This record gives sequence, C-alpha cells and structure tokens, in this order.
Amino acid sequence: MKLITALMLLCAATAASANSFPNGNVQAGQKLFEQYKCNRCHAAMLGGDGNTMFTRTDRKVHNATELIEQIRICGGNVGANFTPQDEQHLGAYLNRYYNLK
Ligand code: HEC
Repeated sequence: MKLITALMLLCAATAASANSFPNGNVQAGQKLFEQYKCNRCHAAMLGGDGNTMFTRTDRKVHNATELIEQIRICGGNVGANFTPQDEQHLGAYLNRYYNLK
C-alpha cells in the first residue's frame, strides 16, 4: 500500500513538472505573439527569422521565471500590459523553443 502511494505521488510530481506553464494555452500565446508582432525587433536584430532569438546558443532564458521576466520586459517595449494569464499563455507558446520542464 505504501509503495502504491509513493508511486502515485511520484506520478503526480512528474505530471506537474512536465509543463512549466500549466495555466497557459499555446494557441492563445501564439495569438498574443502575433498580435503584438513580438518578432519584429528580434528579426531586425538577428536577421531573418526572429525565432532564432529563442534558440541562440547564448540565450538568456534558462527557466520559467526568467522567461516570464523577459516576456514582461519585452511586453513593456511594445506597450502591452500583460496580465499574469497572458504571460502564462506566452510562456506556454514560447516553451516550444525552450522546452523548460
Ligand atoms: C522593441 C523591440 C522588441 C520587441 C517588440 C520584443 N522584443 Fe523580445 N527581445 C528584444 C531584445 C533586444 C532582446 C534581447 C535581450 C538581451 O539579449 O539582453 C529580446 C529577447 C527576448 C527573449 C529572450 C530570448 C533569450 O535570449 O532567451 C524573449 C523570450 C522575448 N524577447 C520575448 C518577446 C515577446 C514575448 C515579445 C512580444 C510581447 C517581444 N519579445 C517583443 C527586443 C524586443
């Protein structure tokens, strides 16, 4: 019985850590990303595909907290006043590049 309980707890922990943005919705994040033309500076800076900002070898973001912080900074750049829910959506969307656990 103890073993089963332990296994259940382990599974719950794994499921919870599988997604850093459990309250985010990928499609909603993509919509915000396009609506605010998030890649316009990134593309201008790096040339071509702005998404390389998220996959460059010396990228700044290494965990969910840093990603949320950067979304806030960049959101400020575009005059967006993201709600915590918006930040979760964008985090969920951008996690396709970061694969944060
Ligand atoms: C006004 C220009 C500008 C706009 C618009 C912009 N960004 Fe950025 N973004 C930057 C710059 C500059 C950096 C690089 C910061 C650095 O290297 O210190 C950056 C970096 C980032 C990174 C971190 C990449 C890494 O190194 O891991 C994320 C995430 C990000 N932006 C998300 C967004 C999102 C989401 C939006 C739309 C809300 C957005 N950005 C719009 C200028 C912009």
